[in-house]
Amino acid sequence: MAIFGKDEAVKPEKTAVLDPALLPRHVAIIMDGNGRWAKKRGMPRSFGHKAGVEALREIIRHSDHLGIEALTIYAFSTENWKRSAEEVGALMGLLLEYFTKELDELHREGVCIRILGDIDDMPKGLERQQAALYAAMEKTKENTGLKLNIALNYGGQQEIVRAAKKLAAMAAEGTIKPEDIDAGAFAAQLYTAGLPEVDFMIRTSGEMRLSNFLLYQMAYAEFYQTDLLWPDFDREAYEEALAAYQKRNRRFGGV
Ligand code: FPP
Repeated sequence: MAIFGKDEAVKPEKTAVLDPALLPRHVAIIMDGNGRWAKKRGMPRSFGHKAGVEALREIIRHSDHLGIEALTIYAFSTENWKRSAEEVGALMGLLLEYFTKELDELHREGVCIRILGDIDDMPKGLERQQAALYAAMEKTKENTGLKLNIALNYGGQQEIVRAAKKLAAMAAEGTIKPEDIDAGAFAAQLYTAGLPEVDFMIRTSGEMRLSNFLLYQMAYAEFYQTDLLWPDFDREAYEEALAAYQKRNRRFGGV
């Protein structure tokens, strides 16, 4: 099994040729390395995040163009609140700007936005961000194009505990029998309910950690890592990653 393998490190001569029939249905991305990208340029971390949004814009557009069904990106974890007030403020500013400026175009393209994470439990002072997130979900909820899931104030363990609590409450009130709780019933209580399981997880910047991301949903995901820092992860790098995915032999525990 190739986990975070370096097997794909050899750069192809030109842009990869992708087989549309072998594309992953659900791609997840940990967009890592914004801070280091900025530091290399002698700039503040927020500069890296701003460049990271540009890279994200291109990857969303290209996912849509390729016909990928679902793209889930890790924008802000439950642990990211530990960063400096300045950096958190910059990220929250970018988030608001993104949803203000990009929503109409995403809607026109038929993108359906879902936020994974606890929007209601964000610190005080972020009411405009909360309103923008709810508005984006509401506006795009009937769209049938790319399913864009943004993990925000998200933690994989917290998501699993939340689902367990919901099922426990349902069992206590008699709406589900404990013996009927199976993987499907559990998945239906996650933020990702109704989405296909993650097929392919990309992490940039050379780090090889899951960082509390989609722990339940990645049971059989193929992992890919690249040393590129997130702001440098462009269309070509994405296609190279997808080409590596297409060479994987997925066995789902079989032989
Ligand atoms: C990790 O790099 C990146 C993040 C914690 C934030 C990612 C967010 C964005 C790209 C933009 C916000 C999203 C939207 C939807 C507008 P890092 O800061 O940990 O980098 P480092 O490891 O080099 O320090």
